[in-house]
Amino acid sequence: MTHPENPQKLALNPPEIPADFIPRHVALVMDGNGRWAQDRGMERTEGHKRGEAVLMDAVDACLALGVEYLSAYAFSTENWRRARGEVRFLMGFNRDVLRRQRDVLHEKGVRVVWAGRRPRLWRSVIRELEEAERLTANNTRMTLVMCVNYGGRAELVDAMKKMAEDVKRGELSPSDISEKQVARYLYDPGMPDVDLFLRPSGEKRTSNFLLWQSAYAEMVYQDVLFPDFTPQHMFDAVLEYARRDRRFGGTK
Ligand code: FPP
Repeated sequence: MTHPENPQKLALNPPEIPADFIPRHVALVMDGNGRWAQDRGMERTEGHKRGEAVLMDAVDACLALGVEYLSAYAFSTENWRRARGEVRFLMGFNRDVLRRQRDVLHEKGVRVVWAGRRPRLWRSVIRELEEAERLTANNTRMTLVMCVNYGGRAELVDAMKKMAEDVKRGELSPSDISEKQVARYLYDPGMPDVDLFLRPSGEKRTSNFLLWQSAYAEMVYQDVLFPDFTPQHMFDAVLEYARRDRRFGGTK
């Protein structure tokens, strides 16, 4: 079946899964762009360019499934180590994708949230992230967390610094520090725990993504490079998630 507004695009046909088995929060590592491009004799950046449409399709797949939160790893605190040209491309690309897609996301009822570190991040990227946040702040269908200049350890370090400052000011007592309290100091305090941690590209590691939030996440690794990732891959991952037996350290 084709899509009513865009006949080139296939209408999404999500699997029927009871609501209780749909992950509330999906963390997506958009990996394999460089390899995809190099396999075709192209510049690595060509792979990133393909990622824009693929991410938008992943948003549509999550909307069709009823996922509440999708977090996308767009630039990590470690990505600054890449060649200067690729870093510049990724910065400009993040800025342009946000500018191009914010109205589209807004129309779909998606709230955009930025998670990441401010220092070093290009001012123009911060501006677009904050503009997308402002425009979409009241949307309730789904939250898309753009993780830009994000690192799981950096997030915890930043949270610890803020906590220490509050302790110093007498606004927080060390004896009151609990898991719930720590979560309040993270970049997006409203973020639910990650249920499904999804990494295409064949690599099997978390790469410093949402460390605190993924403590009990189900890990699904798929053997597809991100530029070839389709809504069907998202559906397959959620089907696999729905089949898993989650015990959270307890017994059934
Ligand atoms: C990992 O692939 C990808 C990144 C470091 C950047 C992620 C960016 C995108 C997916 C482009 C889409 C971005 C937005 C904002 C929509 P890699 O370069 O590590 O690939 P490799 O592992 O094959 O080298």
